[in-house]
Amino acid sequence: MVSSETSCTIIGGSLIILLIAGYFGQQFLPAPKPKIIGFDLGTTYSCVGMYHAISGLVEIIPAQRNRSCMPSIVSFLPNGTVLLGYDAFDHLETNQKYTIYDAKRFIGKQFSIESIRKIQNDYPFELIRNDNGYVEFVVSENGTRVTPQKIGSLLLKHLKEIAEKHLMVTKIKLCVLSVPAEFNEEQRQTTKQAAELIGIKVERIISEPTAAALAYGIHKRNNVRYVLVIDIGGGTTDVSLLSVQGGMFSTQAMAGNNRLGGQDFNQNLFNYILTLINDNHKRTDPNFLQHLRIEVEKCKLDLSVSNQCTINAKWIITRELFEEINQDLFKKIIEPLDRIFAYINSDMNDDDDDDASNKLTVNNIDEIVLVGGSTRMLKIRQLIEDYFHKMPNIEIDPDVAVTHGVSIQAGILGGVWPLTVSATEVRTAVEKIHIET
Ligand SMILES: *[C@@H]1O[C@H](CO)[C@@H](O)[C@H](O)[C@H]1NC(C)=O
Ligand SMILES: *[C@@H]1O[C@H](CO)[C@@H](O)[C@H](O)[C@H]1NC(C)=O
Ligand SMILES: *[C@@H]1O[C@H](CO)[C@@H](O)[C@H](O)[C@H]1NC(C)=O
Repeated sequence: MVSSETSCTIIGGSLIILLIAGYFGQQFLPAPKPKIIGFDLGTTYSCVGMYHAISGLVEIIPAQRNRSCMPSIVSFLPNGTVLLGYDAFDHLETNQKYTIYDAKRFIGKQFSIESIRKIQNDYPFELIRNDNGYVEFVVSENGTRVTPQKIGSLLLKHLKEIAEKHLMVTKIKLCVLSVPAEFNEEQRQTTKQAAELIGIKVERIISEPTAAALAYGIHKRNNVRYVLVIDIGGGTTDVSLLSVQGGMFSTQAMAGNNRLGGQDFNQNLFNYILTLINDNHKRTDPNFLQHLRIEVEKCKLDLSVSNQCTINAKWIITRELFEEINQDLFKKIIEPLDRIFAYINSDMNDDDDDDASNKLTVNNIDEIVLVGGSTRMLKIRQLIEDYFHKMPNIEIDPDVAVTHGVSIQAGILGGVWPLTVSATEVRTAVEKIHIET
C-alpha cells in the first residue's frame, strides 16, 4: 500500500517536472510555424488567418492593399489576365460581362431553368445552367466557362500564397474552412473542392456562427449554454441560435433576411440626398451618382464613431437623422430574433407540455456575438442590447470574427499549445426560417 502510493507520487512528480519543463521549453524555443490556416471564403469578402503557438494570438494576414480581407471578385480580362479582389473590383464597370462576384451563392446547388432566368436579371455576367442543373459562369468571348468552386479556388490560391509569403514557408497543405450554417452536405463538399483544386486538404469545415463563437473563446467557458450569433452583412441578415456543452456546438435555430443589409441603409440615405438636389443634370450624371454612393458609405461609417457626418462637404447628416431615415430597416433587424424564439418555443419543437418554465427566453441567452460590418451601426447595437438586456460581444472586428474563429479551430486541430480545450460542432437538421428572399 505504502510502496504503491510512493511510486504514484514519484510518477506524479516526474510528470509534473516534465510538464514544467515543457511549459518553459515552449516559452523559450522558437514558436513552431502554424501548419493549418483558416479560410473565410465569403460571399462578398474573403480572408485568411492563423493561430500562433506560444503567444496564443490569432493573426489575420492582410489579403490585399493592406486590408484584412479582399472582395470575393474575379475578373477575366480579354487578354487572358485574371484579376482578383480589389484589382477585380476596379474592373466591375469596365469589364462587366466577365467580372464574377457572388459565386458562393451558386456553389454546390442545383437551379431550375426558370429560377436561373430570374436570377440572371441580377447580374451583368452570363449564367449557364449545365446539364446537371448547376450554374457556371461565362468568362470570355469564346464562351469559356468556370464553375463557382473554380472562382473560390482562385480566391483561396491568392490567400494561400499571401499566407506562405507571410510565414516564409513554401507550401501550406492544410486548412479549416467556414461555410454558412445553412449549407447542406453537397454545398459543403463543393466548397471543399475549391481548396482541393489548389492542393490544400480541408481538415475541417465549420459553420460561420460557430466560428464567430470560437473567436470569443466561448468553447472554453463552461457557464455558457446558449449563444446567439447575429450576422449583418452588406445584403443579408442572419441569426443563429447555438447551444454549447463541453466545447460542443450545435445549431438550434436559424432565421435570415436576404433583403436586409448595410446596402439598404446606404440606399435610403442616398435617396434622401437626391431629394435635396434640384439640379436635374446632376441627378442623372453617372459619375456624380457613383461619387455620391461612395460619400454615402463613408458618411454611414463615420456615424459609428461620431455624432454627424458630411456628404460632399455640403450636407450634414446627424446620427438622429440617419436613424430616422432608416427607422423601418432598424425595426426589421429585430424580426429574425422574434422568429427564432417563436420557432424554438413552438409546439412542433416542443417535446412535452406547454409549461412556461420550458420556454427559452432572452434571459436564457448567455452570450450574443456580432458578425459583419453592419453591426458597427450604434443603433443596431443598442437595439440588440435592449432586446436581450445585455451587452453583445463587440471586441473583435466584426469583419474578421469568422476568420478569427476558423484560425482558432485550425490551432485546436494542430494541437497547438496553449490551446488545450477542444471544440467541435455537431450538425443538426435545422431548417432556416426565411423572412424575405
Ligand atoms: C498597413 O496598415 C498598418 C496598420 O493599419 C499600418 O501600420 C501600415 O503602415 C500600413 N502599411 C502600408 C504599406 O500602408
Ligand atoms: C492585359 O490587359 C491589362 C489591362 O488592360 C494589362 O494591364 C495587362 O498588362 C495585359 N496583360 C497582358 C499579358 O497583355
Ligand atoms: C478562349 O478565351 C480564353 C481567354 O481569353 C483563352 O484562354 C482560351 O484559350 C480561348 N479558348 C479557345 C478555345 O479559343
